[in-house]
Amino acid sequence: MEKGKVTVFRYNPAKDQAPYFETHEFPFWPGTFVLDVANHIYEKIDGSFSFYSSCRNSHCGLCGAKINGKPGLMCREFATQEMTLEPLSNISVIRDLMIDRQEYEETMGGLRLFLDRSKAPVSQPEKIDREDLELFKVASRCVECYACVSVCPAFEENRHEFLGPAGIVQMSRHAVDPRDELNREIIAHSAGVLNCTLCGKCNRVCPHGIAPKTYVEILLSKLEGIGKSLENHRPGENG
Ligand code: SF4
Ligand code: SF4
Ligand code: FES
Repeated sequence: MEKGKVTVFRYNPAKDQAPYFETHEFPFWPGTFVLDVANHIYEKIDGSFSFYSSCRNSHCGLCGAKINGKPGLMCREFATQEMTLEPLSNISVIRDLMIDRQEYEETMGGLRLFLDRSKAPVSQPEKIDREDLELFKVASRCVECYACVSVCPAFEENRHEFLGPAGIVQMSRHAVDPRDELNREIIAHSAGVLNCTLCGKCNRVCPHGIAPKTYVEILLSKLEGIGKSLENHRPGENG
C-alpha cells in the first residue's frame, strides 16, 4: 500500500504555548477522503487529535477545515498524497481543527431565522414564484460549515460590524420568501451588509455551490428599493 504524508495544525490551549505543525504518514490510495486521514491520525497515532465530524456525507457541516490551504469539508474532499490540514480561518480555534462554532452562531442570534408572518395565507396552497422558490431552495442548502466566513475579508477586517456570508445566507432564506413579513433588509443593514465588498471569495469556496454574494446583492437591492442609501457601500476591486 502506498503512503501519504500529512502535515497537521496542532494546538491545545490548555498545554501549548503556541500552535505548531506535525507530520504523519497515512495509508494512501486514490479515493481516500480527507476525513479518513483525520480519523487515521485519531485512531492509530494520537487519540488527542481533535476535529468535528458526524454525517460523513456533506450534510452536517461540522468537518470544515483548510485542506491544502483551501477551505472544504473533510468528508467531501479527496486526500492528496502530500497534504496539509489546518482549522478554518477567521473563527477562534478551540483545539487542533476544532473551531469555536458557537462564537459564530452567537452572531446570528436576533436574526429571527424562522418564517415570521402574522397574516393568513390568501390561498391554499400558496403560490410562490419559481424564481423566489429557487433562491430559497439554494439558500436552504447551507450546512453552516463556515467555509465562506473563513475567506471573507470584510468579516476578517471587522467581525463586530459585519455578520459574514453564512449569516447572510441564513437570513436570505427568509428575505426571498414572499410569505415572510419581516423587513429582512433592515436587519441585514444592522448586521453590516454594507461592509461586504462583493469580492466573491465566498462564492468560490462553498461546498454546496451556494453563492452568498448573490444574496448580498439581493439584500442590497431590497435596501435600495426601500430608499436606503448605499453610499457607504464598499465594493472591492472584484465587486
Ligand atoms: S463577497 Fe462579501 S460576503 Fe462574500 S467574501 Fe466577499 S466580502 Fe465576504
Ligand atoms: S454558504 Fe456554503 S460555505 Fe457558507 S456556511 Fe453555508 S454551506 Fe458553508
Ligand atoms: S462529517 Fe458532516 S459534513 Fe462532513
